[in-house]
Amino acid sequence: MTTLTATPLAPLLARLFKEADAATSPAIAQYSRDERTRLLHSKTEYRQFYGRLKDLWLAVSPETGTLLYMLARSTGARIIVEFGTSFGISTLYLAAALRDNGGGRLITTEFEPSKVTRAKANLTEGGLIDLVEIREGDALETLSSDLPDRIDLLLLDGAKALYPEILSLVESRLRPGALVIADNADFSPDYLDRVRAPAGGYMSTPFGDDVELSMRLG
Ligand SMILES: C[S@@+](CC[C@H](N)C(=O)[O-])C[C@H]1O[C@@H](n2cnc3c(N)ncnc32)[C@H](O)[C@@H]1O
Repeated sequence: MTTLTATPLAPLLARLFKEADAATSPAIAQYSRDERTRLLHSKTEYRQFYGRLKDLWLAVSPETGTLLYMLARSTGARIIVEFGTSFGISTLYLAAALRDNGGGRLITTEFEPSKVTRAKANLTEGGLIDLVEIREGDALETLSSDLPDRIDLLLLDGAKALYPEILSLVESRLRPGALVIADNADFSPDYLDRVRAPAGGYMSTPFGDDVELSMRLG
């Protein structure tokens, strides 16, 4: 058994995914498809956009969650940074991997206070809160200081347009071989250009429908 497949986490995740599927937000209907696409690319309007969508979970898929767990386990990750907590679904997968790796520290960040409250409750119910530090605020500030010297894994899942800026904040701490997993990075062409550049310091490949998987080189 693993932490991921045992009680309390397995039934908790099953319940949370059901809740996530059932969540609705009247705000989303007010945006046309083009407007949503424009906002997802915006480096200035993300706060307002995500604020209006605060009732939506926007969680990674169960498949991506399982991938996160496996990548963190197989690399023996002990120190993880996450951009975009929401209600804590991806955080639960990553923290479960830390537990099964023997412990560690996960720093995650979210600017919606109501989401931070729910994420804390979910991590407490999953028995993983002791491994997780939730920094409430804009990641451009919360991840700009007080980071561990050596980071094994970075998950990018907040405002897509900020992926290059958040990578820049964390990059000097990524150990050789560290993994960077970016969800829905298609909305951040600058980010993809950077991690795919031949001399950019990463090996990078799209993986499945949602993920750009990158490895920090030497
Ligand atoms: C796609 S959701 C994250 C889903 C989460 N990783 C999961 O799998 O459950 C993105 C979240 O990032 C938050 N967010 C977006 N930009 C942010 C920023 N600059 N700083 C902090 N949080 C941010 C949003 O409020 C939203 O809850």
